[in-house]
Amino acid sequence: MSASPSTAPATALRGRVVTFRGNPFEMPPSEALYVEEDGLVVMRDGLITQVGSYAALNVGLSADTRVISYGDALISAGFIDTHVHYPQMPIIASWGEQLLEWLERYVFPVEATFSDPAVAQAVARAFLTELLRSGTTTAAVYCTVHSQSVEAFFAESERVGTRMIAGKVLMDRNAPDNLRDTVQSGYDDSAALIDRWHGRGRQLYAVTPRFAITSTPEQLEAAGQLLRTHDGLFMQTHIAENLSEIEAVHRLFPERASYLDVYDHAGLVGPRSIFGHAIHVGETEFCRCHETHAALSHCPTSNLFLGSGLFRLFDAVDPRRPVRVGLGTDVGAGTSLSQLRTMGEAYKVAQLTGRSLHPAQALWLATAGAARSLHLEDRIGTIAPGMEADLCVLDSHAFPLISQRAARCESIEELLFVLMTLGDDRCIKSTWVSGDCVLGV
Ligand code: GUN
Ligand code: ZN
Repeated sequence: MSASPSTAPATALRGRVVTFRGNPFEMPPSEALYVEEDGLVVMRDGLITQVGSYAALNVGLSADTRVISYGDALISAGFIDTHVHYPQMPIIASWGEQLLEWLERYVFPVEATFSDPAVAQAVARAFLTELLRSGTTTAAVYCTVHSQSVEAFFAESERVGTRMIAGKVLMDRNAPDNLRDTVQSGYDDSAALIDRWHGRGRQLYAVTPRFAITSTPEQLEAAGQLLRTHDGLFMQTHIAENLSEIEAVHRLFPERASYLDVYDHAGLVGPRSIFGHAIHVGETEFCRCHETHAALSHCPTSNLFLGSGLFRLFDAVDPRRPVRVGLGTDVGAGTSLSQLRTMGEAYKVAQLTGRSLHPAQALWLATAGAARSLHLEDRIGTIAPGMEADLCVLDSHAFPLISQRAARCESIEELLFVLMTLGDDRCIKSTWVSGDCVLGV
């Protein structure tokens, strides 16, 4: 299959292509996986134009096509991180405390420094570099309450050419004075950022109330108003991560039936809504997310680090009423920006709930499934003609321990499991964004 013709020279990557042609939670995982052992991915003008075996496609390549051979490395769609806080990168790995105390002690002080645009720009740049070093090409990103933190992030993303979702955090109560907005200023600042950035190139805006504790009902209403009055916006927030948090939400919103109902009442539950964590939720909430096409972001390294609890992944994706789920690193509570590390920890969390996450299911959650959770599956998350050319190349010989284990692998599934269990950013040989190599070779 081929996309529209063009005169720009093409680039073709040769290697072991791994992507999806189905959902591994709805069919045998090995059948959902598409593998081309000696494959070729042809890209032009930022899009993938052809995918198939090297033998079949090589003969038809135009003479000026640049072919890059990656040997036995895997070529995957770029990873997608569905929940991460860029301003928290400086406080990753901060000792002690669970959610609410950890926010007070580490998060709020560092986020306050983002009133300075120079801080925001430097951290945004370093953060994007780290994401690309981990093979992640799209993320749903929390900025801080300051407009300039969003400005800095989108400007850096635009410079690199990545497709990013981001937004200004809304917080009008239960936060330090220097981190609070008001219903009106939060609305106005968000509206101005939406006008400036939403749909500009590859950038997308997410209305971002931090969580129910730090927004008044009026601010949540205003967030709903933004969503109703602008097309295609995202909404991101946290839900049911920690038991003390949940108690506080019940105290602050006694009239609401559940934590999710707080958001639902304000019109914040729908397609392109992304709820981080959702550890302590029940069947009613899963059903509501299913019927509204909202997404949950599973953040295993964060949930283990803060001692928040175990996400019930297999309940969430129950085929009778599957909820859209992607993986999130949730840095700074998360302990790595690597989706390989996050997949490995998702496996361990599932083990603790009595289920074994198949490596194809884990890769799906970090790529095609994440794209579907964001309603972006027609653009990113798989390797197919017409998709945006965001790719990462995975080297299973990056260091001796993984290399000796990889040498014993008898299938691509086994190799994926080794990569997600032992691998990290060292295994990212290169990262491609819109058909350009932005990291590695
Ligand atoms: N809940 C509200 N804010 C945050 C945050 O910054 N990190 C995490 N993990 N949970 C939150
Ligand atoms: Zn978070």
